[in-house]
Amino acid sequence: MPLNAGQLIDKVRGSRVWRSVFRSGTGSSTLHRALAIQQNIFLHLFATKVRKRMVRFSATWFLGTLTFGTFLILVITGILLMLYYHPSVPQAYADMKDLQFVVSSGLFLRNLHRWSAQLMVFLVFAHMFKVFYRGAYRTPREFNWVIGVVLLLVTLLLSYTGYLLPWDQLAFWAITVGSNLSSSVPLVGGKIHFLLLGGNQVNANALLRFYVLHCVVLPLAAILFIAVHFWRIRKDGGLYVQQSEPIPKPPPAPESAATAKEGQ
Ligand code: HEM
Repeated sequence: MPLNAGQLIDKVRGSRVWRSVFRSGTGSSTLHRALAIQQNIFLHLFATKVRKRMVRFSATWFLGTLTFGTFLILVITGILLMLYYHPSVPQAYADMKDLQFVVSSGLFLRNLHRWSAQLMVFLVFAHMFKVFYRGAYRTPREFNWVIGVVLLLVTLLLSYTGYLLPWDQLAFWAITVGSNLSSSVPLVGGKIHFLLLGGNQVNANALLRFYVLHCVVLPLAAILFIAVHFWRIRKDGGLYVQQSEPIPKPPPAPESAATAKEGQ
């Protein structure tokens, strides 16, 4: 007799191959649910049990999660953009024009990357203010706050280094002004300026340096610090819950149980 869809799914889930990958087995008991989280490479980052109050929208407005979402969009669109872009002076600008007018969906891809970058900067600030407003930076979360500050800087640097890559007038002068600011740092300003641009002015060396920083060094730093940030949330006992918040009352006991007690 042919199997129906449900039976087929059960058969696949009960098979040896399936069980060798997903070891938690099937079932909806609390133990099964906990094992499903704990034994999955992606889900094990989350706690198997959380307080409902911690994951309410009002607690975080999901701002950190949304920041992470924009970061993922930026990584994916950034990799696609790399397929069409050469970090060399004669070609960078022409590549951007090709993206706009020749490559199919190129304009959409470029704009998705640019708008997501703006959104990420906005969200990272919003997330920081929300954390601050809730007082979620206090013990034992100070270290995660510091990691957050590093992430804020990395986000801003990603934005800044990406600015030069289109190699148009706006990019050129923005980076000229921005890099000149670094020269005003006392004592080491000149050295920082030289190190950043690979010379004394914005030219091919600067473009290549900004490209490497934007596409390799800073994204890797962001991934590393985001991983530490998430790991710390777990180690600090999950998200911060305000102590003053009223704890919701448990639902009333079923009628029959209450009457049975009275009768005793
Ligand atoms: C790339 C940037 C960042 C990403 C992807 C990120 C991601 C997250 C996520 C997903 C959470 C869980 C709660 C939520 O969704 O809001 C969180 C919590 C937290 N973040 Fe961030 N974050 C970033 C930057 C920052 C910055 C700039 C700060 C502060 C300077 C910060 C400080 C914190 C702290 C202290 C917590 C714990 C809050 C609590 O326990 O309730 N983060 N972050």
